[in-house]
Amino acid sequence: METVTSVVEMMRAAGSLRREGRTIALVPTMGALHEGHLSLIREANARADVVVVSVFVNPTQFGPLEDFDTYQRDIERDSRLAQVAGCDIIFAPGVDDMYPAGSVTRVCVSDLTGKLCGAFRPGHFDGVCTVVAKLLNIVRPHLAVFGQKDGQQAVVVERMVRDLDMGVEIIRSKTVREPDGLAMSSRNANLSGVERREAAVLYRSIEHAVSLYRAGERSVERIMSEMRDMIEAGETTNIQYLAAVDAVTLEDVDELREGVMLALAVFVGNTRLIDNVIIGA
Ligand code: PAJ
Repeated sequence: METVTSVVEMMRAAGSLRREGRTIALVPTMGALHEGHLSLIREANARADVVVVSVFVNPTQFGPLEDFDTYQRDIERDSRLAQVAGCDIIFAPGVDDMYPAGSVTRVCVSDLTGKLCGAFRPGHFDGVCTVVAKLLNIVRPHLAVFGQKDGQQAVVVERMVRDLDMGVEIIRSKTVREPDGLAMSSRNANLSGVERREAAVLYRSIEHAVSLYRAGERSVERIMSEMRDMIEAGETTNIQYLAAVDAVTLEDVDELREGVMLALAVFVGNTRLIDNVIIGA
């Protein structure tokens, strides 16, 4: 496995791979790799000749009060894990290389980014879209793999790629969970013992909603009210939002049906966790 830390070198390496006729898959990450990321790398490995994993804690997607400075950084550990999962090239650029002085262009996918997480993290998705657009331009992959865990992010990236004719296939990979259902996240490491136990209620409430749906309940209001009760029963849990939206347009819906994404963000202690499922997926 190779490690590339310069943007220009990455463009060169990717260019020659393309000229040799090899297919390239990109898995964008911010490092702190866990089984969720590794499943994306395996998926990429099954679909392309060469897998590039980018590891870049992207400053433009963090708010001023968010955890950019304390975000876990350990490139050696990430490299070892990525290699075992089937990564061929780690691309780990520096912030000054990705955003040299005078770099002012931002990519904004309007409408889709003002709701759900975007409503509480102003500018977050502009940062995500800008860095993903740059990574796609640098690596020029045939396909790029994203996790359903960040449901809104996947929708927004798919729309950007379509709207800007970026000519890359976006693959969505399913959410990898702990045995009690909690979606894997690098932020789970910040939870205390009690918080970790209570965090399982995020997915339990979603499963409960799906079972109500399967039993014939369609009212979003009634389903949400049960989810809310379950989550609010915790000592350390605070709901930021619960939403039922069309999984493509992200418009709110009143009735559950296939193709609706149930999404939530909950503070467990000081740690903000998100999860979602798409009904019928
Ligand atoms: P990061 O949080 O490191 O996540 C990288 C990718 O891993 C994303 O596509 C995310 O959805 C996926 N992922 C995280 N946890 C997962 C889980 N439990 N199961 C399946 N997939 C999971 O998302 C970002 O980084 C950044 O916003 C990025 C796209 C890299 C742009 O900076």
